[in-house]
Amino acid sequence: MIKNDLFLRALKGETVNRPPVWMMRQAGRYLPEFMAIKEKYDFFTRCQTPELASEITVQPIRRYGMDAAILFSDILVIPQAMNIEVQMKPNFGPYLPNPIRSQKDVDNVVVPDVTVELDYVYQAIKATKEKLNNEIPLIGFAGSPWTILCYCVQGQGSKNFDKAKEFCFTNPVAAHNLLQKITDTTIAYLKEKVKAGCNAVQVFDSWGGMLSPVDYQEFSWQYIQQIIDALKGDAPVIAFGKGCWFALGDMAKSGASALGVDWTCSAQNARYLTGGNITLQGNFDPTRLFSPPAEIKKMVHQMITDFGKDKYIVNLGHGILPNIPLDHAKAFIDAVKEYNP
Ligand code: CP3
Repeated sequence: MIKNDLFLRALKGETVNRPPVWMMRQAGRYLPEFMAIKEKYDFFTRCQTPELASEITVQPIRRYGMDAAILFSDILVIPQAMNIEVQMKPNFGPYLPNPIRSQKDVDNVVVPDVTVELDYVYQAIKATKEKLNNEIPLIGFAGSPWTILCYCVQGQGSKNFDKAKEFCFTNPVAAHNLLQKITDTTIAYLKEKVKAGCNAVQVFDSWGGMLSPVDYQEFSWQYIQQIIDALKGDAPVIAFGKGCWFALGDMAKSGASALGVDWTCSAQNARYLTGGNITLQGNFDPTRLFSPPAEIKKMVHQMITDFGKDKYIVNLGHGILPNIPLDHAKAFIDAVKEYNP
């Protein structure tokens, strides 16, 4: 039994005294203790060493006491396991030297045995569960197939992922082939993560908002729906699509336990679009953490009032930025714990 199960209760839609809180990318570069480990070990060493990954995962929990931990890892371990070279270049971000641009490239992509290729992730989960000592739940995650395709085809981060979109629109058969391979791998991977101890999973569709509503259905949402269907009975699924407010109506009917919302969609609009019955997660503008702590607290209380304390998980609308002052992150978490309706 998990001692603080607020997060899991919110996912079930139960009535709570206050909503649970965690932050996307909470294990990261705004923490000095994270930077100390980053100085000594490169990115994928940190991901692949269970002792390091589990330590980084619990760092923000020790400091701030969030209601859920999220495993330190990356969405790009999936293409890596599929025989696509992925590098993490310092001060640049992800770099894939052999981007996928043809059906032949797609044919060379492997659907791996995830129990072998990604064993280090499950070992990290087990090590993290020991450190968490049943205090709070652990979230596992994966990128959406579309967001993974973006990196596989573009070869790096991008403002508009134009090459990824060009590939989909000029070679849709190859694109769907690739999306299905990523989907199959992701489903097997998330099931193993739950087996290893994750209490819930989140699918990050970070670049879903690059697509028009019609293209979103074709190239992103149908694959996320497959993941949600396959995980039914294993663990609650949170679907987060950045910039995807237009799809919230379909998402609400998907069987997901909760939906992530970014800060460009108001609480009222998100509740309206989703029919008012599903748990929502979000949506504080990450840049707003630069505001003075007293202002952050006021805004968080207003946000809880706007979403309502039930069927709600307090979070940012995207990942925390590297240069956020420590006491500002603390104000965000404390504001939720101090909330008194
Ligand atoms: O939430 C957590 O703290 C868990 C850790 C986590 C990381 N990546 C660690 C990381 C999570 C949940 C991710 C997911 C991820 N990775 C996403 C989806 C979420 C989102 O932010 O949209 C995406 C798009 C990626 C791909 C990725 N990884 C990029 C674009 C970058 C470079 C830019 C950046 O944000 O730094 C990474 C590297 C990365 N992943 C870092 C961390 C802490 C920073 C690099 C480092 O530590 O050396």
